[in-house]
Amino acid sequence: MLHADAERMAIPIVITLNGRQERLNVAPWVTLLDLLRGPMELPGTKKGCDHGQCGACTVLIDGQRVNSCLKLAVTLDGAEITTIEGLGQPGHLHALQQAFVDHDAYQCGYCTPGQICSAAGLMNEGHAHSREEIRELMSGNLCRCGAYTNIADAIEQVMGQQSGKNYKEAAE
Ligand code: FES
Ligand code: FES
Repeated sequence: MLHADAERMAIPIVITLNGRQERLNVAPWVTLLDLLRGPMELPGTKKGCDHGQCGACTVLIDGQRVNSCLKLAVTLDGAEITTIEGLGQPGHLHALQQAFVDHDAYQCGYCTPGQICSAAGLMNEGHAHSREEIRELMSGNLCRCGAYTNIADAIEQVMGQQSGKNYKEAAE
């Protein structure tokens, strides 16, 4: 019955997902997180709390970091969505992905896709000008393994490399 309802009530949307245009029919109650992990077969985005508390489900929507468990897919018509799979792939990693490897910035890895997408959004925002601000502005992404020091090391390295103009120098 639920399946029949979902088909009957589905709403058409067009999104750009990791650079590819997708025409979809989605039921009004489906979250972006469930759309990604289900029909779109992109399990890199993780479901932690499913209530906007942990950041494991963070993706980029039009360059801004968003908890995908709190976003209904039907609201995203016309949006550009980037998941961890779209940031980089083995062989051509995003600088943040490489820095997380270099700094051993994970243990179990469950929070890692959300941490990296959130860090990419943080860099787009341009508000972090110190390690303390990185820690503060990444505080929505929890890590049960406690890899926070290494995560900050990785982000700080990439921000120092790529955005000297809006990292520490901008604060001086
Ligand atoms: S799963 Fe979305 S914030 Fe935890
Ligand atoms: S690396 Fe395990 S939760 Fe963060």
